[in-house]
Amino acid sequence: MYPSIHINLEKYRQNLNQLYALAKNHGQTVMVVSKVFCADQKLIDVINTTHIEYIADSKIENLKHVKTDKIKVLLRIPQLSQVNEVVMYSDLSLNSELQVIEELNDAAENINKMHQIILMFDIGDLREGIYYKSEYLSIIERILELKHIELTGIGTNLTCFGGVIPTKETLSKLELIKKNIEQHFSISLKMVSGGNSSAIKLLEKGELPQFINNLRIGEAFVLGRETAYGNHIEGMYDDVFTLKAEIVELKEKPSMPEGLLGFDAFGKPANFTDLGKMNRAILGVGRQDVDCENLFDTEDVHILGCSSDHLITQIKNNTYDIGDVLTFKLTYAGILRLMTSPYVRRVYESNI
Ligand SMILES: Cc1ncc(COP(=O)(O)O)c(C=O)c1O
Repeated sequence: MYPSIHINLEKYRQNLNQLYALAKNHGQTVMVVSKVFCADQKLIDVINTTHIEYIADSKIENLKHVKTDKIKVLLRIPQLSQVNEVVMYSDLSLNSELQVIEELNDAAENINKMHQIILMFDIGDLREGIYYKSEYLSIIERILELKHIELTGIGTNLTCFGGVIPTKETLSKLELIKKNIEQHFSISLKMVSGGNSSAIKLLEKGELPQFINNLRIGEAFVLGRETAYGNHIEGMYDDVFTLKAEIVELKEKPSMPEGLLGFDAFGKPANFTDLGKMNRAILGVGRQDVDCENLFDTEDVHILGCSSDHLITQIKNNTYDIGDVLTFKLTYAGILRLMTSPYVRRVYESNI
């Protein structure tokens, strides 16, 4: 039955080990981000074979089910309504709101636990974090009073909402914050979690500033690419995850719709170029499972578009039959959607 997502556990293991070795050589600990594959336990088991220190996920529902001895990290700022689950099922969470941290403290006290936090700072990407120009010392002062919260360190996230690329200049804003906090309170922060897959270029060039000692990596492990410039990381696999879908219709048709044109099934205005007749294959997968923009063309198959349940392609080499199965490489968003869809079968292609 198709569609199916094919997961090569051995390739994932090799990606994890290669990049982790690079990070470790540069003094980094690593959080491997599992949300893209919904913390699938088979992939978690692969992580469990490595020396990577932390497993991080944006959803506490995922962390709750993860079986591991690694330190569990909640990546998304906790919701007030979740604080009990957060202290129960994660060891460390990324935070930016004092009110939430105080409630985490109460929840941790209730179960007699210490909960670690990384305080996030926004140094320009405009997603989560205390804005770096605002007053933060009073917040730290209050956090240091809390008996069931350990301020493990500070962090920042870039190249997510604002597309800001990590550079020495941008990261120096975080370094200043670290120094201020350490001087003002005479403490030493254990962790500065300073980047994601967009920091890998700096890491490769040996230019990641020394004050950063932790990276949170998702995309680079599953796709073998850094995300500041979108470059492939030599030696890593870009096909740990692939999609297989079945041809349900195969016909020669014109490339131009006929009649008065309005909007497609998703409200987009029709926009076509007349390329004459072409061999077209329709496959049994659609936007309910993945956006066609998140699949890559193959040598033989050019993706034309999709509706909820159909992927429409142009076949360049007319050697296919109904029932044939085509394989596509995926973007990060493609993997995320396919792993989240209940209609997509998961096939594990190697054993670990
Ligand atoms: C806070 C945070 N850190 C790190 C990551 C990982 O980012 P990337 O997949 O670019 O490595 C994410 C996203 O998954 C995130 O939300």
